[in-house]
Amino acid sequence: MQRVSLDQLKKGMVLFEEARDINGRLLLGEGTEIKSSHINILKKWGVASVCISGEADDEEDDKIGINFELFERAAKNVKNIFQHAGLSHPFMKELFRLSVLHRFHADNFKPPRSVKIAETNDQNNVAKINLRNELSKKEIKLPEISTIVSELNEVINNPQSSAEDIATVVNKSPTLTAKLLKIVNSSFYSFHSRIDSVSRAVAVIGTKEIASLAIGISTISVFKGIPEEIADMQLFLKHSLACGLLARIIAAHNNIPQTEQLFVAGLLHDIGRVVIYKDFSDQAAMLFSQCAGGDKLLHQEEKNWLGCKHTDVGKILLNKWNLPETLVHSVFYHHNPSKAREPVWPSIIHLADIIANALGLGSSGERFVPHLDEKALNNISFSPGILEMIVNQATHQFTSFVSFLTE
Ligand SMILES: [Fe+2]
Ligand SMILES: [Fe+2]
Repeated sequence: MQRVSLDQLKKGMVLFEEARDINGRLLLGEGTEIKSSHINILKKWGVASVCISGEADDEEDDKIGINFELFERAAKNVKNIFQHAGLSHPFMKELFRLSVLHRFHADNFKPPRSVKIAETNDQNNVAKINLRNELSKKEIKLPEISTIVSELNEVINNPQSSAEDIATVVNKSPTLTAKLLKIVNSSFYSFHSRIDSVSRAVAVIGTKEIASLAIGISTISVFKGIPEEIADMQLFLKHSLACGLLARIIAAHNNIPQTEQLFVAGLLHDIGRVVIYKDFSDQAAMLFSQCAGGDKLLHQEEKNWLGCKHTDVGKILLNKWNLPETLVHSVFYHHNPSKAREPVWPSIIHLADIIANALGLGSSGERFVPHLDEKALNNISFSPGILEMIVNQATHQFTSFVSFLTE
């Protein structure tokens, strides 16, 4: 018997014991002979390793030919986007290596310059503002969210909630129901038989998980309407999705059962920027110009032009929507999780954001990999050794999930 990581798991190996996901759901029985579809199922459910009968073969994978010139180009560009993050910490060194490999294979060498910088904006004509004051005086109209979200919140917070309670709420919106069923029937979840109702989805996946997924789908509508000349909404959505998927996987590796709630926290972590891009497009354009000229980090320059950061705006917005405190807390502290009273969830979002930026999976406007708060790694016992597996799982899920949220 030997425990092997999913990267070492090959077709034909036999499971020594059953494979279950973080929530204890049985995925494959003891004695199963592994097929490629099984490896996909394990990856999609965030399983890190399994026990197999006998010994694993140490046979090396076939080496592929590498164009060294292109590889060097990818490395040079990745070094540029890592300039604020540094490479001294073993986590960042390993992330740098994976980022070069990922961008080289994805043919994506450029920094995530998603934003069109306004050339005509004259710094003197754009007023610096105190956004926090304006928000507290309610001079800015924050986006509204459907009443379904607050009803879903009640379902999450009530331990007595049944499958029927959540089905009743979700079924009020035919669009939400259709999207939810499309996702649970996709290869992302890899169920063998078709799930044709919300109650059935709740029975199989769990009440809180389905409610969280429904909240994520409902809040995505707020991202629409980001002005094209300020930011690319598709890239913004992709960055949010990548962060959500990474957060979900990191949570699973840390035996944290609220995987879908962390998915939503990742999905919404930069939502404050949506308000800034929509309502303060002049200041946003100036921010981008300043960062492009001086190679500054966007989130650090925000305070100069807006008097606060996108995390402050996100907190005000999510509180207005009455979303759970754990979620608001994770969003508010995602750039400095060691300052959080409860640092575990913010640390997960912090690392997910850094990884998503490093790999160039979408962009919320930031061109560089943000600083690493090293304490985040201790808060969730994250060893650089598992980073490659997490990146592989996330990029695999990203490809199969992206169309559901961006179409
Ligand atoms: Fe952020
Ligand atoms: Fe982000």
